[in-house]
Amino acid sequence: MSTEPLLVARGVQKRFPGVHALAGVDLDVRAGEVHSLMGQNGAGKSTLIKILTGVYARDGGTITFEGRDFRPTSPGDAQRQGISTIYQELNLVPSLTVAENLFLGRAPRRWYGIDWRTMRKKAEEILATFDLRVPVDQPLGTMSAAVQQLVAIARAVQTAARIIIMDEPTSSLDSHETELLLGIITRLKERGLGIVFVTHFLEQVYRVSDRITVLRNGTLVGTYAASQLSKLDLVSHMLGKVPEEVEPALQPHVESQGPAVVSAKGLARRGVEPFDLTVHAGEVVGFAGLLGSGRTEAARLIFAADHAKEGTVNGSQLRSPRQAIDQGMAFLPEDRKADGIIPELSVRENIALVVQRKLGFTVSRAQQEKLAQEFVTKLGIKTPSVEQPVRLLSGGNQQKVILARWLAYEPRFLILDEPTRGIDVGAKGEIERLIHQLSQKGMAVLFISAALEEVLRISHRIAVFRDRKKVGELSRTTLPEVMKVIAGEEKPAEVSGVAKMAAGEDKHAL
Ligand SMILES: Nc1ncnc2c1ncn2[C@@H]1O[C@H](COP(=O)(O)OP(=O)(O)OP(=O)(O)O)[C@@H](O)[C@H]1O
Ligand SMILES: [Mg+2]
Repeated sequence: MSTEPLLVARGVQKRFPGVHALAGVDLDVRAGEVHSLMGQNGAGKSTLIKILTGVYARDGGTITFEGRDFRPTSPGDAQRQGISTIYQELNLVPSLTVAENLFLGRAPRRWYGIDWRTMRKKAEEILATFDLRVPVDQPLGTMSAAVQQLVAIARAVQTAARIIIMDEPTSSLDSHETELLLGIITRLKERGLGIVFVTHFLEQVYRVSDRITVLRNGTLVGTYAASQLSKLDLVSHMLGKVPEEVEPALQPHVESQGPAVVSAKGLARRGVEPFDLTVHAGEVVGFAGLLGSGRTEAARLIFAADHAKEGTVNGSQLRSPRQAIDQGMAFLPEDRKADGIIPELSVRENIALVVQRKLGFTVSRAQQEKLAQEFVTKLGIKTPSVEQPVRLLSGGNQQKVILARWLAYEPRFLILDEPTRGIDVGAKGEIERLIHQLSQKGMAVLFISAALEEVLRISHRIAVFRDRKKVGELSRTTLPEVMKVIAGEEKPAEVSGVAKMAAGEDKHAL
């Protein structure tokens, strides 16, 4: 391992209208190190990465790569020079096949054009080194989010990269796939590559990082050896608070005794075994389980987003989400790209959207502003104003806007599927508190998250799913207890994520 850094950035500046996104940031990346970039939502992580990869030009500061001035003009240019990225927003083409995506712009050619056979064969070989076996001539869009993520990584690694930058690559991966990716990161590091890693999962940071650089509000807090920095210190650097002020996580709250708001009986469809579920007013029920265990599928059946073959919700068979909504239900889906954010609309419009629908378009502009402002404050949404188009917000702040939309709506029953994905540790606590407050006001909540600790903190009761079957309900429980039920006592957890991903199913279960 050489000690001279591959990449040296000093005093990097970037301004957007109304936002000083980077106000003099330094970063070194060495060969053979994993360097994590940490900070709250909107701290400037993605912006710095986009400057390093030629998406944005810097307004000031210097960057050298392998000793030379580095000023990439496009991601392609950065990649040719040796810096590859996997963005927070995947830049793949869903309608092209897996193989085509892997070789986008670099397809093997012969005199007659693209050499499809070689391309397929090579694609299979490459993916095999990632422990991934998928039909490479199927459109990428038919694969799960996890497969798409791993394909993006495989592609980045194929190019002759010296540095690979990963911006929240694990945010839509389950634990098995995350393990796979962390393993890949370690292997790339051993090959002498420099890895820049961004995630909001602290455990992952500590699993792989050699060094950690913390940004706050576009400024550099510092660079630390991971082994010398405690989690508490890291969080306090990120939030700008002394460790004593870092608030303890929410404690599981007392059981609620409200009337049943939703009562599902024998709900089932092909691939989801019949299950019952009752959620009371003022109660938060958590869903726990592995990839493909059926958490999201079960929630979709309750909301009639999928058609139930048998069973009832509140005594009748719901035929469409419309009917579920009429009964006071709402659903924050896990795939926000597809059915969530409206990028061109403002923060205000995105937040007011369903409230407006509920009240029949009688919400005045002033009321919308007040509502939006209230949630911007409550959730700490970082934006120059509520009139900012949502697409200009950082990833985590976009997420908060969508969540605000449903919290503002205050339905009788709210289903939240992975609501805190991509959200920083500080804001997660705020969101948990807000959900808690709403439930105390009588709202019933169904909370789905891959982060078990989170499910435990926030839920009065936990329903566990395994192999597309509800296998138990627990209250006043502990992490080991839930894990035991998830695994099934008979045999230890056998996570077959890759096999399931290969079948291209489980798009909704990640
Ligand atoms: N194209 C843009 N136009 C205007 N403002 C922008 C643009 N891109 C980013 N910003 C703003 O710059 C700041 C930094 O955003 P950035 O995306 O770098 O944050 P981040 O640290 O990656 O956050 P997250 O954890 O939420 O992904 C934010 O306030 C964001 O709203
Ligand atoms: Mg980001």
